[in-house]
This record gives sequence, structure tokens and C-alpha cells, in this order.
Amino acid sequence: MKAYRAALLRFDPAADPRQAAVYEADGLLVLGPDASGAEVVQDVGAWAALAPRYPGLAVEHLPGRLIAPGFIDMHVHFPQLNVIGSPADGLLPWLENHTFPEEQRFESPAYSAAEAEFFLDELLRHGVTTALAFATSHPASVQALFAAAQQRDMRLITGLCLMDRHAPAALLNRDGPAGTDATEQSLIDSETLLLQWQGVGRLGYAITPRFAPTSSAAQLRGAGELAARYPQAWIQSHVAENHDEIAWVRSLFPQSRSYLSTYADFGLMRERAVYAHCIHFDAEDRALMHATGAAAALCPTSNLFLGSGFFDYASAEQAGFRYGLASDVGGGTSLSPFHTMLGAYVVGRDGRGKAGLSLTPQHLWWQHTAGAAQALGLDGRSGRPAVGNLLPGCEADFVLLNTQATPLLARRTARAANLDELLFALIVLGDDRVVERTVIARSASARPVGPS
Ligand code: GUN
Ligand code: ZN
Repeated sequence: MKAYRAALLRFDPAADPRQAAVYEADGLLVLGPDASGAEVVQDVGAWAALAPRYPGLAVEHLPGRLIAPGFIDMHVHFPQLNVIGSPADGLLPWLENHTFPEEQRFESPAYSAAEAEFFLDELLRHGVTTALAFATSHPASVQALFAAAQQRDMRLITGLCLMDRHAPAALLNRDGPAGTDATEQSLIDSETLLLQWQGVGRLGYAITPRFAPTSSAAQLRGAGELAARYPQAWIQSHVAENHDEIAWVRSLFPQSRSYLSTYADFGLMRERAVYAHCIHFDAEDRALMHATGAAAALCPTSNLFLGSGFFDYASAEQAGFRYGLASDVGGGTSLSPFHTMLGAYVVGRDGRGKAGLSLTPQHLWWQHTAGAAQALGLDGRSGRPAVGNLLPGCEADFVLLNTQATPLLARRTARAANLDELLFALIVLGDDRVVERTVIARSASARPVGPS
């Protein structure tokens, strides 16, 4: 067992997410293996109350530091780090001029492997310990990302990008060697990768139609059939991000009631289905999200950068569907959860086409940790693994934050009169400089590092 003494942040799963944070100014976090050997939280609480129960336990004392759950990025593109900060007149020109050319390079296993290493190291450096990530349409990119995540024992979910039309040929799924067409081969490759990686250590597979415009009806149908056969696997895609995109989907799938219902019509909405953006919804779309158990990945920095629009928090709450935060890099402008939380606050405040809200800092933080875990179905219910929180039994992924990382942050946090002020100061002024250490829990199947 190992223990850390510092300030501690966790979330009460029974409380209203707007006020669910539990804070210990001087806390103790005790870690140790569960029955399967995975490293989990054994105990957590006030140092003064807990310490007498653990005489002789090695405790790392970290005065002036805050331990918080590792952040969860619900939607990020591993092959887009190199196009972050590429301006465009909206989503579709951005894809065509910046994103598609870069993604073509991931046909190379060597390029994919090098990029995967850099991507995961950057996520960790920013305090992100769990991610639902897009790879490209090349199986090599998926293999590279899974292998790099396995090496780090990270909880990572990804899958082969399904796109059999409306993109450069070098980025479309390819015909198979035995005469199978690209659509059929992309589904065979998805299933092969799923069987290879789903549930291995802390890894998960996501059936990944990029978005409706780049898939034929046959490919979406096949993806839906896969999703029905493998209910433990995730589904990820994009929806209702941009007006031109929506008009395009309407012309391609005129029989569907809306862009979102295109996915429902092909069997792609269920629990563990995660749709990025979900901006331009009507009441029926929101009811469909709720009824199917699908979740929204909100991507505020991307939506602000590309001018896509503003997620309607009040209507989402009213409909009761699940959501959490995501960077959407490279459309998004930062991997930092602090930047994303600040973007979400700004998006919430906008009150032109929707109600303007002031999201609480606890709610913003929850959306990037415990709330995101719940939206992904990783919240520990029904015996599922738990991340995004530091309650007994949770996998012990955490970040060690320095609340004095910059002169202004030190000054502002010293003046924080309560927890909300402390968290808001970190959200507004924080970035990777705040993240002093990111600690990944060892999984039951973790392999010892090194030659032995
Ligand atoms: N829609 C389809 N592909 C993408 C992508 O790569 N990024 C974003 N933001 N939206 C998309
Ligand atoms: Zn995206």
C-alpha cells in the first residue's frame, strides 16, 4: 500500500453535480491492490481521522499541493495534434484543407507509432488519464495508439475510423486483399481490432463512423450491426456541429427525421454511444439522446475556434441526457482540461440563441472527471470500472496540482475564500504548468517495465 497526504478533491456520487465536490484541506489518499491486483483507492478522507488507522504506512507528504481525479477527455483526435491552430472558414473547409491531408500520413505504421507516443505523453502532461480518441481510417493508426496506451497502462478507448466516401482516396477505407470492397473490409477490420483489444488491460474499442457524410448507408448499417453484437464496445461519432454539415446530411439521408436520427436509424444510438458537439439539436433530438442512453461530448474550445455554435446546457438538463467535456483537438485549441472547462463556462454564459447560465466551477470540474466517467459508462455501476473520482474502489488515476504554479495563480488562490473560488481560479488561470504529476493506476494485467 502507498499513501499521499495533501489537499484532496473528490465527488459525492449522490449529490447534485453542481455542488458535488468534497474537499479535504489536509487529506489522506490510501492506495493498494484490489482482489484482481488492480491498484485502487483503499481509503480517503481527512488526514487527522485516517492516519491513526494506518500506523507504519509509507506516506508521501505534499504540502501546498492538491490531489484530484485524473481528467477524462471524452473526444480527442490523436492524428490531429499537428493541425491544432489551423484557421478555416468553418468545419468543412477545415477538414478538407488541414485535417484530411495530415490524417493521410497515418497510413505509415512508423509515423503512427511516433505520433501515438507523443500524443499520450502530452495527454498525461496535461493531466488527462482517460480518453475516448479518434484514430484514422488506417488500421496501423489504431494498432499504434492501443500499443502505446497499453505500455502506459492508460485507460484509452479508440477504433478504426469508418469513412468510405466523400474524402480523399488516401483517407478512405481500402478494398480488402480477397476482393472484399472497402465498406465490407472496414467492418471486418473493425471487428478484428475489437476482438484484439476490447477489454485488454484498461483498453476499450469504439466503433467509429467519422460522421454521417463520410459513410455510405451500407457502412452505417454494418457499424450498427457490430454495435448490436458487441454491446460492451463503445460507439463514437460527430453530430450537429455546423450548419453546412447538417444541410449536407439532410441531402444525403433525406429519409431520416434529423441528423441525429440518421444514427438512430442505423442502430448507432445506445448506452456507450458518444456523440461529439450536439449543438444544433431540437427537442426531439434531445429526447432521443435521453431515451437511448447516448452521451454528448461537449467540445467548447473547438466550437469557439471553428465558429460552430454554443451547446445549450439548460435544454440538455431539461431533457436529462448525459454529457461531459472534451478537447476535440485539433479542432479544439488545447489539450488542457483547464482551458476546456473555461471554454465550457464561456459557452454556458452565451445567452443569445439559448438561456445563458453561470455553470459552477464544481459542475465544470465534474463534467471533466466523474460526470465524464458516468457519460462513458465507466462510473463503477454494475461492476464496471470506476475512473474520474477518488472514492474507495476507484482506479487510482490522479493528478497532483500546484495551486501556486504561476505568480498570479499563487496570489489568486491565496485569496480564495472557499472551494468554488479556488476551483474557479484554477479553471481560469490554470494550464499544464499546474499539473505537477500525473499518476496512472497499475492495472491487474500490468506488465513489469524493463527487461526482466
Ligand atoms: N466532423 C467530422 N470529422 C471531424 C473532425 O475531425 N473534427 C471535428 N471537429 N468535426 C468533425
Ligand atoms: Zn472531433
